[in-house]
Amino acid sequence: MITFSDRLGALPGYPLAEIPAIKRRLLERGVDVIDLGAGDNDAPPPDVAIETMITAVRTTALSKYGFQQGLPEFRQAATRWVERRFGFRFDPATEMLPLIGSKEGLAHLVFAVANPGDVAIVPEPGYQAYIGGAILAGAEPHIVPLKREQQFLLELDRVPESVLQRAKIVFVNYPNNPTAAVATPEYLERTVAICRRHGILLAYDNAYCDLTFDGYRAPSIFETPGAREVAVEFFSLSKSFSMTGWRIGFAVGSKELIGALTRVKSYIDTGPWLAIQKAGAAALDQQEALVVPVRAEIERRRDAGVEALRKAGFAVDSPKAAMYLWVALPEEVPSAVFARRSLEEAGVVVLPGSGFGPAGEGYFRIALTVGPARLAEAAGRLGEMLERMRRGALATSA
Ligand SMILES: Cc1ncc(COP(=O)(O)O)c(C=O)c1O
Repeated sequence: MITFSDRLGALPGYPLAEIPAIKRRLLERGVDVIDLGAGDNDAPPPDVAIETMITAVRTTALSKYGFQQGLPEFRQAATRWVERRFGFRFDPATEMLPLIGSKEGLAHLVFAVANPGDVAIVPEPGYQAYIGGAILAGAEPHIVPLKREQQFLLELDRVPESVLQRAKIVFVNYPNNPTAAVATPEYLERTVAICRRHGILLAYDNAYCDLTFDGYRAPSIFETPGAREVAVEFFSLSKSFSMTGWRIGFAVGSKELIGALTRVKSYIDTGPWLAIQKAGAAALDQQEALVVPVRAEIERRRDAGVEALRKAGFAVDSPKAAMYLWVALPEEVPSAVFARRSLEEAGVVVLPGSGFGPAGEGYFRIALTVGPARLAEAAGRLGEMLERMRRGALATSA
């Protein structure tokens, strides 16, 4: 009889876990499902990535183990892009690390700094790899609720001093998933200052830095003075280039911090496939041009989605960045019930706020992964669903 670890048992449910099976059942029944669940844009990857990949697949040398070193060309293209985009240099050989998507790097980073019982500070609602990485590494997650009245910012000065003293890592993600909130330079300054004071590693997740609207520009954590001492920043090619399934991202930071993550990963994986690094390098070299249409399309979808949801009776802010709408629900409507019924009765996949942790209750998330017409159709169906649930709640409370 195999028994499982306490760590496995401590993992919360993953928000996307049961959706694929329900969705398949509905599709088999002929339901017109609109999937606004995962942050997986419907656009194809850039031609330059596909063309480079086709040649790379035929190149025998690129079929070999990449190890953590990976493809120097990818390291150079990524650090060149960081320099063009943010204006500072990282040594491609020692201050960056290719990742099999940024998710694994974020989760694995905890292993480099936390001993069992040390604290990892995680936002809630938040990307589940943070809490998962913390628990699997034996760290104790300290949850910080993100609240609308605090612009969904993870404020370390609200964390008790005794917790800060035991904390080894904090996960900070702006533009944010799932709330789509953004960070101001002042916020980043006070966050870096507290991390420096307490020796807390700042894992800055910048997966959505390209997806910004209304002229907003998402900063790097390294624009904040002193950040190099305490921060590792994570970038992803998934969202900017619609390459989610390719699994390619990277981290930048000081030689010591990147070296520690490299050492952890060398016992776990052998890096992204070199052919994908080759294709990723080609995309990064043309990043500025390639993201223009992606950004414009998501902005169009944001406008259409916000308008349609408001018309359908929902309260939703219009975000400056990322690819999500974080939509408020009336108090009497639990988000898990709403999301389940929306899928089963309205054929619309949304993620319940509670799937991002209890502090996400009161909201649901939609991903702007389909065009304006489909978003409008989905919003209409969700509005009808909400109305039915409200009437039901009134009927039960009467
Ligand atoms: C906040 C955040 N960070 C990281 C990732 C992971 O991206 P990747 O595909 O690079 O692993 C996601 C994916 O949804 C995300 O939402």
